[in-house]
Amino acid sequence: MEIIIQPDSHEASRLAAKIVAGLVKEKPHAVLGFATGQTPIELYRHLVEMHRKERLDFSEVTAFNLDEYVGLEPGHPASYHSYMNEHLFNLINIRKDRVNIPFGLTDDIPTCCRSYEDRIHAAGGIDIQILGIGTDGHLGFNEPSSSLASRTRIKTLTAQTRKDNAAAFGGMDKVPHHVITMGLGTIMDCRTCLLLAFGPKKTRAVAQAVEGPLTAMVPASILQMHPRAIFLLDEESAAELQRAYYYRWVYDNKPAWQKY
Ligand code: GLP
Repeated sequence: MEIIIQPDSHEASRLAAKIVAGLVKEKPHAVLGFATGQTPIELYRHLVEMHRKERLDFSEVTAFNLDEYVGLEPGHPASYHSYMNEHLFNLINIRKDRVNIPFGLTDDIPTCCRSYEDRIHAAGGIDIQILGIGTDGHLGFNEPSSSLASRTRIKTLTAQTRKDNAAAFGGMDKVPHHVITMGLGTIMDCRTCLLLAFGPKKTRAVAQAVEGPLTAMVPASILQMHPRAIFLLDEESAAELQRAYYYRWVYDNKPAWQKY
């Protein structure tokens, strides 16, 4: 794992955008995995700006999103379809027929999940998956106790996650209980995982994921097994890392050819 601690979320988001944009420039037909939540919004803002000012070209890119709520129409304001359109897809030149988000209104969830996995495979696999982390250590919507080898499937949200996401719905009672999410095995197949975590609410989850034992009770700890997982943190989310001094030294002394 590469642990990068930046002074704040703005610096971290800028660096995340640089990493994603670098891939798109190098591989115009890259397959990008996107996440939702508050955390990646600034990263998406940077990508939009790079598209507008530097003509960063998304016309050949394929996108896969991590997850979606079951039972929400794509046009529902709290759906992840709406989120992605608002923060990124409507603002760049990505082709809508290359955008993939699990369809929460499907009447055949197992078939929908299998076809999602098939589409990822047919696209050649995901080059870089952007990730946030839940306060309980979840990735996508893989709640604690998720199989570390799981594939795209239905999951039931914990009360904590429904509470964390209540603002978007105007109350916890309106947050769906069920979701479709890429599995931890699906995420592990991505060539690079880029996890962003900001603020004090993520401190514990980050410490457990990076330095705690590998356990299904902290789903993000599976990234300890990933050959290329990058954790992009701010000072607050990194506050409980025992080896912070080492991670900082490593990053500050990267060989020139390895720098972003
Ligand atoms: C939801 C999403 C996750 C995201 C998490 C954290 O559970 N399904 O992909 O990482 O929220 O969200 P935030 O960035 O708002 O803290």
